Amino acid sequence: MKAFTLQRYSKTDKLELVEFPEPSLQENEVLVEIHSASINQLDSKLKSGEFKMILPYKFPLILGHDIAGIVKKNGSKVQNFKVGDEVFSRLPDFHIGAFAEYVTINENFVALKPKNISMEEAASIPLVALTVWQALIEKANLKKGQKVFVQAGSGGVGTIAIQLAKHLGAFVATTTSEKNFDLVKRLGADVIIDYKTQDFENILTSYDLVLNSQNQETLEKSLRILKAGGKLISISGPPDPAFAKEIGLNFFLKFIISLLSRKTRKEAKKQNIDYSFLFMQANGKQLSEIRKLIEADIIKPTIDKIFPFEQTNDAINYVESGRAKGKVVIKIK
Ligand SMILES: NC(=O)c1ccc[n+]([C@@H]2O[C@H](COP(=O)([O-])OP(=O)(O)OC[C@H]3O[C@@H](n4cnc5c(N)ncnc54)[C@H](OP(=O)(O)O)[C@@H]3O)[C@@H](O)[C@H]2O)c1
Repeated sequence: MKAFTLQRYSKTDKLELVEFPEPSLQENEVLVEIHSASINQLDSKLKSGEFKMILPYKFPLILGHDIAGIVKKNGSKVQNFKVGDEVFSRLPDFHIGAFAEYVTINENFVALKPKNISMEEAASIPLVALTVWQALIEKANLKKGQKVFVQAGSGGVGTIAIQLAKHLGAFVATTTSEKNFDLVKRLGADVIIDYKTQDFENILTSYDLVLNSQNQETLEKSLRILKAGGKLISISGPPDPAFAKEIGLNFFLKFIISLLSRKTRKEAKKQNIDYSFLFMQANGKQLSEIRKLIEADIIKPTIDKIFPFEQTNDAINYVESGRAKGKVVIKIK
């Protein structure tokens, strides 16, 4: 099969399009012909080696976490899918490889594709929507009437977070630049702040929840707009000791991670704010719940650009620019 591979950690190397052996199928796995994949910032971070301490990969590596496609073969113990099913998935860590023609996936990480959207749209959903589900529902238990600040409402995560928060009945504030105001308004944002000309710290007060996806300075400001008892969930760091424990890091790495977030945790505690870091997990059951919200038109995909498979490197560069409006997708079949 054709696949885009990486030979070593590098910020600048391009992925190489090569002939790669088709993956062999295990008993609990489905073999999926990939029709579309989407790009995530995580792909660039893995490529550069930024995550090598917590997600060490072997080379050659096929990057890519999000796919939509068709089941072509089933392992002998697969129960929930049949050949011909249209599916989507966030591939599990250490078993990624979306920038290719085929992938094998343990069925626990797969869900039926929403019927009302295209393969390209379906591929744009899994990683960002699961992130938002795990932040707003699992971790925050966001309730009707609560106030949530979603940073970067025009990004992959933000476009879904605004929609899910509104569905849960929350009041939503977001930041973006002026060119994206119409988009975030359409998605349901109640307060829109131009991060280039305004300071959200001077506008927002007494929030119940912040979904932080930006830098340390934004994280520190976010602490100051929350009310006592509020929650700050960060998906862009710093990682906390609970995360280190969850992924089973050794004593040394646990210590380093504890140091990285010490200042933030201390400040949060002083203000009676619950700080936590979230690193999303692949999850087929949650993705099935998300499918229902898409089929009910509650969550709609937002796609900025679709690149042909051959231009996967250009697609990655575009996402790395940080200017994507929603998601960037590659069309493989
Ligand atoms: N921990 C996890 O599990 C997890 C999961 C998913 C994502 N993440 C992380 O979360 C971050 C966001 O991911 P993403 O996929 O949403 O990124 P993205 O789609 O690449 O975000 C691009 C968007 O961010 C906006 N933006 C850029 N700088 C901004 C700022 N200072 N304030 C407000 N908006 C800004 C841009 O709007 P303009 O063009 O108007 O600037 C653009 O629309 C990344 O760091 C990613 O790695 C973590």
